[in-house]
Amino acid sequence: MSDQLRVRNLCKTYIINKRQNNVLRNVNFEIEQGEMVAIMGPSGSGKTTLLYTVSGMDKVTAGNIEFFGKELSGLSDNEVSNVRLNEMGFVFQQMYMLKNLSIYDNIILPAYQSKEKTYTRKEINGYAVELMHKLGITEVADNDINEVSGGQLQRACICRSLINKPRIIFADEPTGALNQQSSSEVMKILNQINREGTSIMLVTHDQKVAAKCERILYIEDGNIRDEIRLGKCGESSDRREREKKLSTWLMDLGW
Ligand SMILES: Nc1ncnc2c1ncn2[C@@H]1O[C@H](COP(=O)(O)OP(=O)(O)O)[C@@H](O)[C@H]1O
Ligand SMILES: [Mg+2]
Repeated sequence: MSDQLRVRNLCKTYIINKRQNNVLRNVNFEIEQGEMVAIMGPSGSGKTTLLYTVSGMDKVTAGNIEFFGKELSGLSDNEVSNVRLNEMGFVFQQMYMLKNLSIYDNIILPAYQSKEKTYTRKEINGYAVELMHKLGITEVADNDINEVSGGQLQRACICRSLINKPRIIFADEPTGALNQQSSSEVMKILNQINREGTSIMLVTHDQKVAAKCERILYIEDGNIRDEIRLGKCGESSDRREREKKLSTWLMDLGW
């Protein structure tokens, strides 16, 4: 299998009031095409910073990020924006939808922004309808974003992240604001999207969420300390066994 994302000696340092904060220190990992990987670790360990830097949203201090053989730091800002728009999807808690647009308009917006993916209006509409149906939010398509529940809004964010058929989805605590039932629905959808071929890299605190991922990386003090491979989560996977394995591993790490 070929690497989709290859991260080498990634360092990220923030300087605030002349004080250096080395948030990521020599991080190395790969994500294979079609993989579903969770990032866990204590609060402040650099998980969000990791997602931001590997997805080109934020500049690295040092190191290499290769996305399908393309070195991100070798691309212009414009080229990085295009990779992000066309090849990557984002489900970030703090990335709100636009307030003056309906759910539907928010979902299709990235498709209209893309110059690379030349879908027709009809195709975009058809795909948006298909996605909304799959994620069960058809009935709120014309609602404003403040007229839907947290779970519906998160599912709309996932639709939006998928509209340009990305190769990988980056998600920061995608279930963080959801109750147990919505969280499990969102994970069911992410698992399905992943089985259909889209890679997923997600940050989570929730062991139930992480247990549905193929591989879990544990980050501490800006470094990957360990990883565990649970394998693909199929519909008939033994949920309890996966959760137990993960929980034992996390306990050994002092989680
Ligand atoms: N934009 C920023 N400017 C300065 N410091 C930041 C910035 N973003 C994050 N940090 C610092 O980086 C560290 C890691 O933050 P973060 O990646 O958000 O951790 P996590 O997501 O694991 O909780 C924290 O000490 C935080 O204060
Ligand atoms: Mg975070």
